[in-house]
Amino acid sequence: MSRDRWNNRLVFVLAAVGSAAGLGNAWCFPYVCATNGGGAFLIPYFVALITAGIPVLILEFVIGHKFQGGAPTSLANFGKAGEILGWFATFISFVIVTYYSVIMAWVFDYLWYSFSIAWEGDSGGFFFGSILKLTDGPWELGGFSIPVLIGLVLTWISIYLTIKDGVHTVGKVVKWTVGLPVLLLFILAVSGMTLEGAMDGINYYLTPDFSKLTDFKVWTAAFGQIFFSLSVGFGVMIAYSSYLDKKSDITNNAFMTALANSGVSFLAGFAIFSTLGYMAASTGSTVAEVSTAGVGLAFVVYPEAISLLPFGAIGQTIFALGFFIALLTLGIDSAFSLVEGTSTAISDKFDFNRKKTTVGVILIGFVVSLVYATKGGLYWLDIVDRYINNFGILVVGFIEILVIARLMKVNNVREYINEVSDIKLGKWYTILLGIASPVILGIVLVMTAYTEIM
Ligand code: PHE
Repeated sequence: MSRDRWNNRLVFVLAAVGSAAGLGNAWCFPYVCATNGGGAFLIPYFVALITAGIPVLILEFVIGHKFQGGAPTSLANFGKAGEILGWFATFISFVIVTYYSVIMAWVFDYLWYSFSIAWEGDSGGFFFGSILKLTDGPWELGGFSIPVLIGLVLTWISIYLTIKDGVHTVGKVVKWTVGLPVLLLFILAVSGMTLEGAMDGINYYLTPDFSKLTDFKVWTAAFGQIFFSLSVGFGVMIAYSSYLDKKSDITNNAFMTALANSGVSFLAGFAIFSTLGYMAASTGSTVAEVSTAGVGLAFVVYPEAISLLPFGAIGQTIFALGFFIALLTLGIDSAFSLVEGTSTAISDKFDFNRKKTTVGVILIGFVVSLVYATKGGLYWLDIVDRYINNFGILVVGFIEILVIARLMKVNNVREYINEVSDIKLGKWYTILLGIASPVILGIVLVMTAYTEIM
């Protein structure tokens, strides 16, 4: 059977951007940026993007495009160890989708509650108490939280509907799931900027604190953020590029993906911090006091900020819907890319029927994700995220760049790229991929390991 193909180039880029731009952009980047030196954080951020993010992204595109298979099959061209690396990356993406889907489930719930701004007055109690029904610790699962369970079923059904017929159906969906969140975030940012105190929020987000640059945790944060955000080190981009036609502009696709992904992150920062600035002003606190990371930001602090907005009940609902629809559309294409990466890996390796494999991955994914839909699930989500995420993907990226690029002969990689791409890469790319990237990533890896242990 001939391999599936993306309908056209735009669809591929949209799918790659869709995978990259996800929950990480909306709730990780703004906070990580604000607390790691504000505007000064952009320096390590861009260093990470140029020395590691884009080179690994291009390399993953080359691997998928050249070997026409999911991560394990493609990397098996470099022996058993290569295949194991591919399975390791695939395993990470599968584990991530099992809890990413639960976060999407909460988003589904919040869409519903947005109509009445149900969290008003006690957003923390509402989220942890009424929605999650959180228990006292990880050993007390306490049965399912029904709202989360319902959201989870909706999430997995959406994933199924999107990828049931392979990359063709994905093409139809990504047009919406990439454009819409950008538009919504833009509207939220612009209306947020009209609020009193918005500038305090933006100052908190972007005022550079250069002294932070001497702290190596800021640098490891930048590299971790770039890898997760660009979806590299997961095998997903290898799988996606394996559905590309022979004549595909790899360089251009990679630059567009990286640029669009960073753009979404910046935009999300404006949307979030303008509103948090208003919240700080109206509650008499500082922006630093009200802002927090991740889950707490999206489901507690930001919703509370919405309930304080001077737009009346309908205005608040519209604002809330805008935010949660943006999160939903950002997250859904990242979630299905993780499933697609996993099912491509399995069906290519074992020659299984694609559709059945996808259904199988979705069913198993759903069952595993049920753990996090229990009342103690959040504890497990935190634990798994902490150990699987950061370090694992850096390791995959590092080995890809250090070993795979060398086995493919760095200069041949460049020639391969230049043959198919309009934007040609000069000799500098050989130096970057051959020397600079592995050295820098190696150092970052040691620093990250040190931070994790300490
Ligand atoms: N990049 C996505 C985000 O920022 C997450 C993701 C990682 C998606 C890896 C696919 C693969 O949320």
